[in-house]
Amino acid sequence: MKEYHVPVLLSECIEALDLQDGKIFVDATFGGGGHSKKILESGKDIKLFAFDQDPDSIEQSKILQNKYPEKFVMIKENFANIRTGLALERIKKIDGILFDLGVSSHQINDPSRGFSFRGDGYLNMRMDQDSLLTAADVVNTYSFEELTKIFREYGEEKEAARIARNIILERSKKEIKTTLQLSTIIENCIISHKSIKAKARIFQALRIYINKEMDVLQTALNDSIKILNLGGRIAVISYHSLEDRIVKNLFKYEEKSCICPPEFPKCVCDKVSTLKILTRKPIIPTLQEIENNPRSRSAKLRIARRRKVL
Ligand SMILES: C[S@@+](CC[C@H](N)C(=O)[O-])C[C@H]1O[C@@H](n2cnc3c(N)ncnc32)[C@H](O)[C@@H]1O
Repeated sequence: MKEYHVPVLLSECIEALDLQDGKIFVDATFGGGGHSKKILESGKDIKLFAFDQDPDSIEQSKILQNKYPEKFVMIKENFANIRTGLALERIKKIDGILFDLGVSSHQINDPSRGFSFRGDGYLNMRMDQDSLLTAADVVNTYSFEELTKIFREYGEEKEAARIARNIILERSKKEIKTTLQLSTIIENCIISHKSIKAKARIFQALRIYINKEMDVLQTALNDSIKILNLGGRIAVISYHSLEDRIVKNLFKYEEKSCICPPEFPKCVCDKVSTLKILTRKPIIPTLQEIENNPRSRSAKLRIARRRKVL
């Protein structure tokens, strides 16, 4: 049987969280539970709450729930609702949180989930299979302008308009239902040596849009910082520049103790520095890790500590 997912930057994440007895931790993206398992195995007397919105992950988490019934709680919820999810478990403050963003290998490898242009399956792309909007809905009903905007904004695709135009033309002949249909449409309008990257960007754009990935990330990071105990850690692994930008900019903003324009003679803002950034440059996988797990190649880990307010 294929492995569910190989955890990325595993030892780096465990170190980042600074696990200590009696403390409470959150794995915001359980996936196949690789990071959660290592956290629970650390031998520390901790409590771990994990989130995932995918029912397949919830099923997968049963192994750890059975093994660590006292230490581990799984919550099926979008991480945008982290505070509510934890509040329902009577948790208001935590000591560390990990986000390992994006999709798991299990999700990518299953053609019926529609995340990959390499297989053929229904153009689905919902991480939460209980949500309504699919990628097929978007490509079959959105206007030229809307499609172009999604491909530009979330895929940073230069040929966004050309691809959108071709989608509109093809869907007028036949409904676009599968990943293979979409992949062929892209292939037919982009010169061959660029088409693989274009497909990757268009599939990424649709996935980000369908799952509202940028909005939920922003909300979840803001909320996580609010519930971190002083000295608590936040660690985020991102896999593309749009995600990484959000993490980097938010950490930078939260670290600032003043946001007054530079020309002001003295500070008049009430800004308080809430984070200390622990990684000026992101941690990236070693060549060895990339060789063993090529899907780790674009990973960037950023870590910050909740500042002790003076
Ligand atoms: C890269 S995988 C995590 C892999 C995990 N760290 C492991 O070692 O197996 C990302 C997981 O996060 C979940 N996910 C992504 N965005 C989410 C969100 N907004 N709310 C809840 N889960 C999310 C996905 O369903 C997926 O299972």
